Amino acid sequence: MNLPLRRIKLHAPEDFAGMRAAGQLVAAALDMIGAHVRPGVTTAELDRLCHDFVRDHGATPASLGYQGYAHATCISPNHVVCHGIPGTRRLAEGDIVNIDLAAILDGWHGDSSRMYAVGAVSTLARRLMQVTEEATLRGIAAIRPGATLGDIGAAMQRHVEAARFSVVRDFCGHGLGRVYHDAPDVLNYGRPGTGPTLRPGMFLTVEPMVNAGRPEVKVLADGWTAVTRDRSLSAQYEHSVGVTETGCEIFTLSPAAGVVSAEPESVERL
Ligand code: MF3
Ligand code: CO
Repeated sequence: MNLPLRRIKLHAPEDFAGMRAAGQLVAAALDMIGAHVRPGVTTAELDRLCHDFVRDHGATPASLGYQGYAHATCISPNHVVCHGIPGTRRLAEGDIVNIDLAAILDGWHGDSSRMYAVGAVSTLARRLMQVTEEATLRGIAAIRPGATLGDIGAAMQRHVEAARFSVVRDFCGHGLGRVYHDAPDVLNYGRPGTGPTLRPGMFLTVEPMVNAGRPEVKVLADGWTAVTRDRSLSAQYEHSVGVTETGCEIFTLSPAAGVVSAEPESVERL
């Protein structure tokens, strides 16, 4: 392992403003796209709207050109776990879909994703989305100086498995900041008290993928699209957060939610 490259960056207090601005831009885009997620829309149309929103606000989509990826978003319906490529597919009533967007604003990266329901969806789909969002917020609620990366993963895994769903092991969250994907890997499962200790100034994503069935995934021949092997439904939420002196700040909370800063106790209530 290349130790210098794996060091977790500690950012200065003034760096939070840059992350907040980038995160709020992504959150505003994910708010905007909600009204467009309707039966008949293509995933390419949704991608274009996100792309233009990011550009119109003086930012750049981080995934454009990233490892050869050619789109602003990943759009992952139903049994697509992540990295769905926008295209001619039309969404249909009853689908659930993840839209994942990352943007670079003044050099800082905001990275977030949410689930959207296309019209009326099944009780299972609704419950899967809810449990996945709750798991994300429980993982975030574990973030404070002195806690460990294992505490984040354990909090999410516990909540997901109590609901009889499964945590995908093949993908994880990551450090970010002036780079899109940085150390450390933020696993979506784990044991309390294990792994690196969190310190003020660390910037991380928390982005669990949760399957209604078994956790195994496979990547399709396009090299990107990851699907559940058992074709069960999958869901994901993602936030970018910064470790503060007392807890963490969620950079990508919706402006509509009215808060961007959260102590561990208040995140539990979100
Ligand atoms: N946005 C994903 C993440 O949350 C990464 C997607 S890589 C891409 O980290 F190239 F497919 F966009
Ligand atoms: Co991410």
